[in-house]
Amino acid sequence: MIAVIPAAGIGQRMGAALPKQYLECAGATLLDHTISALFAESRIQKIYIALQPDDHWFASSRYVGSEKVERVDGGDTRSASVLNALSVALATFSNDVLVAVHDAARPCLPPEVLRKLLDVAYEFPAQGALLAIPVRDTVKYVADTAALNVGNSSSVSSYGQLPIIARTLDRENIWLAQTPQVFRLGDLQRALVLAEQHGVGITDEASAMEARGIQPILVPGSRMVMKVTDPEDLELIEFYLSKLKRG
Ligand code: CTP
Ligand code: MG
Repeated sequence: MIAVIPAAGIGQRMGAALPKQYLECAGATLLDHTISALFAESRIQKIYIALQPDDHWFASSRYVGSEKVERVDGGDTRSASVLNALSVALATFSNDVLVAVHDAARPCLPPEVLRKLLDVAYEFPAQGALLAIPVRDTVKYVADTAALNVGNSSSVSSYGQLPIIARTLDRENIWLAQTPQVFRLGDLQRALVLAEQHGVGITDEASAMEARGIQPILVPGSRMVMKVTDPEDLELIEFYLSKLKRG
């Protein structure tokens, strides 16, 4: 099997001077931690990293020059970045090979969690599998805030306009998708191309597969597999990464 790491984002919400995947944390960049987690898994033969075409930071990665790692160009959206990496991979690997897509922004992936996910994916390659965790909090659905607030002054507070609840969802049924997400290379490429053609905005691989009628399997992930998104996440990810290193 192979892996794809979309790492062509700009990290707007992090607001750092460089893309968040290049921030240093617990002794390495977030991206190098992410690569290292996949690199250590012997079933993964090759790792494609999708980067901004003008990325000059990756040159300092400890994985530059490794035969197992290949740099490819990313695109304007996460799915465009993934799709481009898959197209490059298809020049070398067959449709049936499994591909694990894993966000660069999720640097903490415990080896046993990855192992279990891959075991399930090998058992059910036509369905595919992804990491996910059940929500703990009660989940509120907020309808289009701007529309709702017309004629409703109660949500305009001294803090400005605040969202109001449209309804409460049944949390028993709600899981949060993480990565890696594992599918057959050919299936995933086709699903992403079709999603793109139909203008379906997708933020993970599983949603493209779901749109093709596939029901991917959820494998329990971990809160350690959090996606580093804003500055508040940095202290927590440093703690998790140090914990992972200590074993
Ligand atoms: N990504 C990518 N290509 C893009 C956009 C995102 O490869 N055009 C990658 C990011 O590098 C990240 C992953 O997709 O590893 C998840 O995206 P996200 O957490 O949203 O990262 P950014 O898009 O960089 O952050 P932001 O949305 O705050 O700008
Ligand atoms: Mg983004």
